[in-house]
Amino acid sequence: MGRTKRIGILTAGGDSPGLNAAIRGVGKAALGFGMEIIGFRDGFRGLAEDRRVKLDKNSLAGILTVGGTILGTSRDKPHRMLIDGRVRDMTNVIIKNYKANKLDAIVCLGGGGTQKNALHLSRLGLNVLTLPKTIDNDVAMTDSTFGFATALDIATEAIDRLHSTAHSHHRIIVAEIMGHRAGWLTLGAGIAGGADVILIPEIPYNVEKIAEAIKRRSRRGMNFSIVAVAEGAMSEEDARAFAAAHARRDRSRTLHDKKQAKAELVALDARHTGNTLRLARQLEGLTHLESRVTILGYVQRGGIPSPTDRLLATRLGGACVDLIDDGVFGVMVAARGDGTDPVPLEKVAGKRKTVPFDHAWIQTARRVGTSLGD
Ligand code: F6P
Repeated sequence: MGRTKRIGILTAGGDSPGLNAAIRGVGKAALGFGMEIIGFRDGFRGLAEDRRVKLDKNSLAGILTVGGTILGTSRDKPHRMLIDGRVRDMTNVIIKNYKANKLDAIVCLGGGGTQKNALHLSRLGLNVLTLPKTIDNDVAMTDSTFGFATALDIATEAIDRLHSTAHSHHRIIVAEIMGHRAGWLTLGAGIAGGADVILIPEIPYNVEKIAEAIKRRSRRGMNFSIVAVAEGAMSEEDARAFAAAHARRDRSRTLHDKKQAKAELVALDARHTGNTLRLARQLEGLTHLESRVTILGYVQRGGIPSPTDRLLATRLGGACVDLIDDGVFGVMVAARGDGTDPVPLEKVAGKRKTVPFDHAWIQTARRVGTSLGD
């Protein structure tokens, strides 16, 4: 009988519903194998600062339905961490703490950025596994991510409720939905909530065409509309400017040019709510219907995880511990149908899963007459 295995676990990136369900899934499965489970606070920062908490049956009890993460989270990267006012590469400190804690593996719960950070540590010899977490559903090589289902419920309910004020006041209600640079959450909630217009980053929009769709509704007596707009959605003009700035940054050779191109990209970054407010004003001018904006924001990441997310997070957590017991490392535990699939981190890191132009959900939206702004 070898030494008791010690598993580290951390949560990184944006919080999301289901994180505690996943921590519980990993923890209870590990305890079932007779392993020890050690939580690290606030993402990779806790690993660098060796801030840890021993997880046992008591600390895992009752967290299945709790929002957020009991460990805390951060967007800190192992190789670029602000410590005492200086940006430092903490990779070697993390490796030292991993060994000092006699860890046999570290499980990282996170989205796209976490997959990249996990690969970085895996290549340096740590036994790393990840679980795909984000409300954006934009992690590659997995059917879905936990957090997405709950956010879909929340955003859909918000759209349901916004219909009341739209038809009572004969208004255009523009609801901005999260998703970073992918349109999954907006497209899904827009279809489920019956939005009349759905705008996603993958399909740059034409304001005149949106206005025409809204006016067509008015002519049929439906003098109100719901516009579900992804925080990363852009007009055709902005999308062209964004692509050009990207090309300039990729071509730029001097630090000055790189900095200038990056500044352009930040300015154009469509996640800023300014685009949504501008779109609402433009539509009001073109349709002569009053328009109002609702930014759903962090409500989409809060509260009790849905049963779908609890089931997914628990499934992935249990499968992760099986892989550790089998000595499988350097993988993301992907959701695949009713099961799971260990995908090498090299195939996941640095990739973003966006909505394909011909995706079934796109076809569904068009079939029921939704305008996608194109
Ligand atoms: O990745 C999840 C997410 O909520 C995105 O949808 C959103 O763009 C981003 O996080 C917000 O980041 P932050 O929590 O750092 O403000």
